[in-house]
Amino acid sequence: MIKLEDVTVAVAGEPILRDINLEFKPGLHLVIGRNGSGKSTLLKTIAGLVKPVKGRVLVYGRDIHSLTRREVVKLVGYTWQNPYAGFVEASVRDELEFTRRITGVELNKEIIELLVPKHLMDRNPFTLSGGEAKRVSLASILALDQPVWLLDEPFDFLDTSGVEAVIKLIFRGVEKGKVVIVASANMAYLHVFRDSRVVLLSRGVVTFEGDFKDLSLSILEEHGVPTKTLMCG
Ligand SMILES: Nc1ncnc2c1ncn2[C@@H]1O[C@H](COP(=O)(O)OP(=O)(O)OP(=O)(O)O)[C@@H](O)[C@H]1O
Ligand SMILES: [Mg+2]
Repeated sequence: MIKLEDVTVAVAGEPILRDINLEFKPGLHLVIGRNGSGKSTLLKTIAGLVKPVKGRVLVYGRDIHSLTRREVVKLVGYTWQNPYAGFVEASVRDELEFTRRITGVELNKEIIELLVPKHLMDRNPFTLSGGEAKRVSLASILALDQPVWLLDEPFDFLDTSGVEAVIKLIFRGVEKGKVVIVASANMAYLHVFRDSRVVLLSRGVVTFEGDFKDLSLSILEEHGVPTKTLMCG
């Protein structure tokens, strides 16, 4: 489980996350909020990529910012909002092998098969289409099958079959007992996750925390997430 204690993140003295106290237990959590509200920063902070100026992040009892990158990667799978941001290799095959090489952990082949079409294996990741890149990016990180998955806008760029594959993957992760956190500014697909917990961020502050079913349209609209038609179908 994940615990954030009094976490403040600032850039040039300006806070972008303020006094965050949150707990994430095994299961599915959505982090929602308008563009620029701090969702990616929150996920990157939990992944140890952004260091708070105050407070700490405990992941299964360990302060994430005291661990080496290798230890973090085995514990927490953070998938980038921008899929090209994480690519380091010259072929998709090598990109998928990269995390195994640096951690020594065997990859979950099912996850790779679910997301990555075989004909992409010899392509340069930087030349992939947006949806192809998102699939490879997700697979290259999540194939380590970490106990914690942090998915930053996992549906961006994907076609319908890609969205279905990612939804399936999220539910599989939850069934395996992982902590799965999905950050999204787009509510279009989120009604699928009606049994989740929700954190609503507004300008770096938590403005709602609770069950999805208790999230009212007025709360969403108040914080700039106008969703009536998208959420209710
Ligand atoms: N390194 C940085 N330097 C300056 N400002 C930053 C930096 N990182 C984030 N910010 C600002 O902090 C705020 C939160 O950014 P963040 O990426 O966490 O938002 P978000 O909720 O993920 O937005 P989106 O829905 O657009 O993905 C934004 O206003 C962003 O411009
Ligand atoms: Mg973001």
